[in-house]
Amino acid sequence: MHLPTAPAPTFLPDLRYRKPQARMFGSRRTGGGWLLPLGWSQMAMWPWLGCAGNEGTDDVRRALNSRRGTGSGPQEPPSSPDDDLPFYHVPVLLKEVIHFLRPGPGGLFFDATLGGGGHSEALLQAGASVVAMDQDPVAIAHASTRLRAHAERFSVLRGNFRHFEEVLGEIGVKQFDGILADIGVSSKQLDDVSKGFSFMHDGPLDLRMDPDGPQTAADLVNTLSEEDLVRIFFEYGEEPKARRIARGIVQARAGKSIRTTLELAQIIEKASPRTGKRHPATLVFQALRIAVNDELGALQDFLKVAPKWLKAGGRLALISFHSLEDRIVKRSFQHYATANLDRPEWPAPRPNPDFCLHLLTRKPVEATPEETQQNPRARSARLRVAERLPIPS
Ligand SMILES: C[S@@+](CC[C@H](N)C(=O)[O-])C[C@H]1O[C@@H](n2cnc3c(N)ncnc32)[C@H](O)[C@@H]1O
Repeated sequence: MHLPTAPAPTFLPDLRYRKPQARMFGSRRTGGGWLLPLGWSQMAMWPWLGCAGNEGTDDVRRALNSRRGTGSGPQEPPSSPDDDLPFYHVPVLLKEVIHFLRPGPGGLFFDATLGGGGHSEALLQAGASVVAMDQDPVAIAHASTRLRAHAERFSVLRGNFRHFEEVLGEIGVKQFDGILADIGVSSKQLDDVSKGFSFMHDGPLDLRMDPDGPQTAADLVNTLSEEDLVRIFFEYGEEPKARRIARGIVQARAGKSIRTTLELAQIIEKASPRTGKRHPATLVFQALRIAVNDELGALQDFLKVAPKWLKAGGRLALISFHSLEDRIVKRSFQHYATANLDRPEWPAPRPNPDFCLHLLTRKPVEATPEETQQNPRARSARLRVAERLPIPS
């Protein structure tokens, strides 16, 4: 069997959501059903899934065994770890995350945003098992190589965390001791000119974290109505000059479609000349990134189901990087932590059917001055953590 030196994206599990059908582990895809190529890291997962006593483990084992025999299935990982990985990302609030999640041998954690694998690595080093997910195949390839030494306790899935429930339910995992989502983009993604996240370098106007995502920033900028552009710039960028900028874009694209980051940055600068230190395109690029990846929608979908994937006493940790995200996390946590709901039109408060969390952080945890000095990106990070209450039987 050919052994690749690093797990190539083509062999990685691709769990982007497709409409679930009755069975997931068939070797063939039936029209519109699931496609579940299993990667080597999932092979490493099944022994401890079995130990966890979860239902569905036999299905996992059967699927893996049948794939092993085909010769066309996933490749085995190389045996020695690669120590020469390029820089990818510095995990933020690492000590604080580990303090709250309390990983240890026997614990099972879900890292919904694997990125460079820094948080997952710390969980694994503490002896826990980790199931991780990311929508970016580059992140998965990097972190899979980095974490190869822990392959027995590490499993990685490609997909959008907004669909994690369907994906994990189908592979037989039920509940976790902790769930982490460190949302947003990694330093590697920001620096990757081909993704177009930075307008400091010229690159395609893409901004997708998932390279197979349905729309690029160029699609939005060249096709949305002026009104829709205004709404995106206002809502996701809180850009005060949204109208002027949207008008400038619509005028510019009438001559020729806008294809690159620098083209767009120049159009924005012309419509809204620089006044302070911040480049006038900053908020518009943030807004487009949020819209392209539907970041707020994905976060809301994730928060709708994440608490019920925790064991009693299990903890949910969310790191966000701007106020729009933090507001969603804060409101969602507050809702889950409220025992009774009250409305002016109700004669009396009613029990909250979603009540299941206890807040461990009333205010978000921020990075220490030492951390922000070493990693300026940590400056805007906000960590909120909540614990699952005892589950009524
Ligand atoms: C800030 S980085 C995570 C860094 C990671 N904690 C580490 O220690 O290296 C965020 C990662 O989450 C991924 N991501 C963001 N939104 C996602 C989503 N909705 N579904 C899956 N992955 C997502 C990005 O592709 C990126 O790799």
